[in-house]
Amino acid sequence: MDMLKDTPVVPLISADDPDTAVRTAKALKAGGLTTLEVVLRTEAAANCMEAIIAQVDGVTVGAGTVLTPKQVDEVARRGAQFIVSPGLNTRVVEACHGRKLDIYAGVMTPSEVQLAWNMGLRAVKFFPAGLAGGVPMLKAFSSVFGGMKFMPTGGVSAANLQSFLALPSVLACGGSWLTPQAEIDAGNFEAITSLAREALALARDVRPTN
Ligand code: 3PG
Repeated sequence: MDMLKDTPVVPLISADDPDTAVRTAKALKAGGLTTLEVVLRTEAAANCMEAIIAQVDGVTVGAGTVLTPKQVDEVARRGAQFIVSPGLNTRVVEACHGRKLDIYAGVMTPSEVQLAWNMGLRAVKFFPAGLAGGVPMLKAFSSVFGGMKFMPTGGVSAANLQSFLALPSVLACGGSWLTPQAEIDAGNFEAITSLAREALALARDVRPTN
């Protein structure tokens, strides 16, 4: 996931129709965020993901909230470039490995990090980051799981993004704060671009690219 080195912020897209999903993805890309997670929480989610892949150049698109091996198969067939799961499920991880798809499985305890490590994962989602102990918990994890990278998601916002990204163990942060439903419903995609631009500026401030 080299692209996350430059833009270590992953916006979540939850959409009911492909057109809105594509407009949201374009707005995020205009703000500089190019790694996008489409969450499987709506009937149309897989169609939305497929539409973004077909219609928006220059973005890397993954499927989030993937709970079952069957969903892994479906989104892989439709072109998902990575998988995100809220928890750590061995069958889901194996399905991703079988398809050579990167998976960011969710963890919030040392036992889960250790299981993920022993399944060969070297990057995991830390979820729900705020409730699971935030920055202090990640520091504690890193003191024992030196090689593991984390993607905190759940309670991340512009207000705490920099504190997460300041940790070397953090690969990137994910979240829905970049895609507020009210702005999407109002067709205010410029607001989405502004939020993306703001997040990227905050990230670059902590992690200069040159
Ligand atoms: C997720 O699926 O990772 C979370 O629901 C995102 O949490 P957030 O809405 O607090 O960003």
